[in-house]
Amino acid sequence: MRALQGATGAFTFAVSEFLRVSGTPVPKKVFLRDIPELAHGCRTPSGMPVQVQILGGNPERMAASAENAVKAGARAIDINFGCPAPTVNRHDGGASLLQHPCRIREIVAAIRSATPSEISVSAKLRLGWESIEDIHENAEMAAEGGASWLTIHARTRKQGYLPPVYWKPIGQVRDRLSLPIIANGDIWGLDDFKLCQEQTGCRHFMIGRSALANPVLPYEIAAELGIGGKADSLVDWIQLLRSLVAHTEHYKGQAVAKSVVKLKQWLKLASIFGDFKHFEAVKQTRSLEEFFDCLETALAFEKTGDKLPRYSGDCADSEPVVPCASPWR
Ligand SMILES: Cc1cc2nc3c(=O)[nH]c(=O)nc-3n(C[C@H](O)[C@H](O)[C@H](O)COP(=O)(O)O)c2cc1C
Repeated sequence: MRALQGATGAFTFAVSEFLRVSGTPVPKKVFLRDIPELAHGCRTPSGMPVQVQILGGNPERMAASAENAVKAGARAIDINFGCPAPTVNRHDGGASLLQHPCRIREIVAAIRSATPSEISVSAKLRLGWESIEDIHENAEMAAEGGASWLTIHARTRKQGYLPPVYWKPIGQVRDRLSLPIIANGDIWGLDDFKLCQEQTGCRHFMIGRSALANPVLPYEIAAELGIGGKADSLVDWIQLLRSLVAHTEHYKGQAVAKSVVKLKQWLKLASIFGDFKHFEAVKQTRSLEEFFDCLETALAFEKTGDKLPRYSGDCADSEPVVPCASPWR
């Protein structure tokens, strides 16, 4: 997905999924296994830089892991203080650190001093554990520890992913601290983007789910920021999905068999949070061939404006007749 999104030219960089640091430091080979870009100058095939994210509560092991990431080729380390998953938080990782501002400073400082100065060290935070006010002290501590910039998700841990998002405190942090701040959370469309921009005053933004739900949005935002190519209002889903399969083949070899699951996850998200209409048509498909057959057929019907054919007469209320293998199961 990073390779695919990177090719749009709409993103300045991406951050890997977190690697959790538990009993022992994460070894170099694990970084290389999980973040394939590390073996390619830490960039996607189109040249978008990828940063390495680690998560954990022990400063020494976090620092040793960061050193290993650098040995594996990392050029930037991001520290996750935002993950709200209960299992992660129970094991002293992610957002649970937001309850201990001094530990945030300690972890950032340990990683900062263990890595060469040309490696950026950044932190991803939520607004707080329970209170959105926590962000001020936590952000200050991360800055004191030596963070190069902060990404702030506009919710507390307690909120999980529930509304509302609070963009304004991100702007307050930006006013108070002199390091760059990246605003994140619920930028689902251009109007959200403009409101977030207005409320935070930020020049840097991170988008996650909406880039999947609405693949045109990154172009639109980049165009607003004057950094990207031009936005095309039509999404060519077949081309996007086939490109993702090609990238999966390139990076993961055998795992391509599982990519139909990932393709369906993507389209499910696009149907819940975006305008994608044909998730039902591919929901039960099992192979890539079946998946693309069903999707192409559904899109062809959409193009002609025809309805998918149905039984008539006695069977008028039964399941639709479908032009490919059981997409409505
Ligand atoms: C399934 C899932 C996995 C995520 N994994 C990470 C992660 O590994 N590291 C991280 O910093 N954020 C992670 N996040 C949080 C996102 O980076 C982002 O902060 C969140 O989705 C809100 O932004 P959005 O509204 O633009 O999606 C994850 C979110 C989701 C939904």
